[in-house]
Amino acid sequence: MLDVHKIRKDFPMLEGHRMQGMPLIYLDNAATTFKPQSVIDAVTHYYTDISVNAHRGDYELSYQVDTEYESARETVARFLHADKREIVFTSGASEALNLVAYGFGRKLLKPGDVVLSSEAEHASSILPWMKTCEETGAELTYIPLDEEGRLTADNFERCMDHHVKIVALAQVTNVLGYEMPVKEICEIAHRYGAKVIVDGAQSVPHMPVDVLEMDCDFLAFSAHKLCGPTGIGVLYGKYEYLDWMDPFLLGGGSNARFDMCGNIMLKQPPYKFESGTPAIEAVLGMKAAIQYIDSIGMEEIHAYERELHRYVVERMMKMDNLVVYNPYSDSGIITFNVKDVFAQDGASFFNANGIAVRSGQHCAKLLMDKLGTSATIRASLYFYNTKEEADIFLDVCSKATLENCLDIFF
Ligand SMILES: Cc1ncc(COP(=O)(O)O)c(C=O)c1O
Repeated sequence: MLDVHKIRKDFPMLEGHRMQGMPLIYLDNAATTFKPQSVIDAVTHYYTDISVNAHRGDYELSYQVDTEYESARETVARFLHADKREIVFTSGASEALNLVAYGFGRKLLKPGDVVLSSEAEHASSILPWMKTCEETGAELTYIPLDEEGRLTADNFERCMDHHVKIVALAQVTNVLGYEMPVKEICEIAHRYGAKVIVDGAQSVPHMPVDVLEMDCDFLAFSAHKLCGPTGIGVLYGKYEYLDWMDPFLLGGGSNARFDMCGNIMLKQPPYKFESGTPAIEAVLGMKAAIQYIDSIGMEEIHAYERELHRYVVERMMKMDNLVVYNPYSDSGIITFNVKDVFAQDGASFFNANGIAVRSGQHCAKLLMDKLGTSATIRASLYFYNTKEEADIFLDVCSKATLENCLDIFF
């Protein structure tokens, strides 16, 4: 059983921070998460003890950095159940998803081909394919979502044919928090010869993810949503596809040889994608974050979040002043509005009460039409949020009326 009060002591941001004069209640974890001291220490360790470049020098310190850097790759590989040659370090999920569209999609797609995605996707998952389709003449089409806004395997299969070459979807969506049936989707897509690119930005930090078991072809995530540093993320790809595709950055570190005739010989994956000096401290911090998550247990984290989510949503559903758009979300994401109140004004009311939530379209602009609203408030939980925080949030929810929300501006 997860001991949330003990866990909170690991996070400096959870020790006595105040907002608007009140103890901070942070419910914007889908945007980014707080970092435990061990992650901060790992980043500091790089700058304090081993602050030299990776993959460059022939001296002892350089060797130490290389060893620690590559051991982070092994940690990520174990975490996802992949081979370490299949783990490419990127600046985050956005760069990873762009890399697949640019390096794989542009090489693969031709006029008449289809890329399948959905209206619930984050901009970082869909925009790279919009651009790639425009450039290759392929067509981007959207799988219809069901009434609740979910992607079902049946709807997906109805859209499949042999023209579909790429399926680009989030394992867990960032506004409604629904989990797609990823294993089934991969199985169906592969039957038609399509490749599946999974945006794992909202799944990898919250639930066990096994790329071998789901059999996806690529998967992307960011460390900062997983208690890790900003500026670092991962692209997992099946080795044969990483080997076949192009990098979108060229430069030092990624080539084995080049000559004046323009012959460039790239290194093997993953190094052919890692030109330039990497964010070494962030890579070491990401390793510490995964070790920290592992020490708590991903199954426990997932179960705890689901339980806290249910506790909150059941109570919110009874409040006449709120509209909840995803009561049956599979994650800790709660998307709602205060009736008759613009989302940003609603979020300001929570801010005035010491609670950090997000408002707007959450980078999923296509979804707002489906929800029939221009913007929503999003509260997103993580394993360090407590039931006491949930109760304060619920109390503020119950007071969030048009009158009270407008009151804070006068
Ligand atoms: C579903 C999803 N995909 C991709 C991203 C992009 O992640 P990053 O900004 O870390 O690159 C996010 C970030 O919010 C997300 O929620």
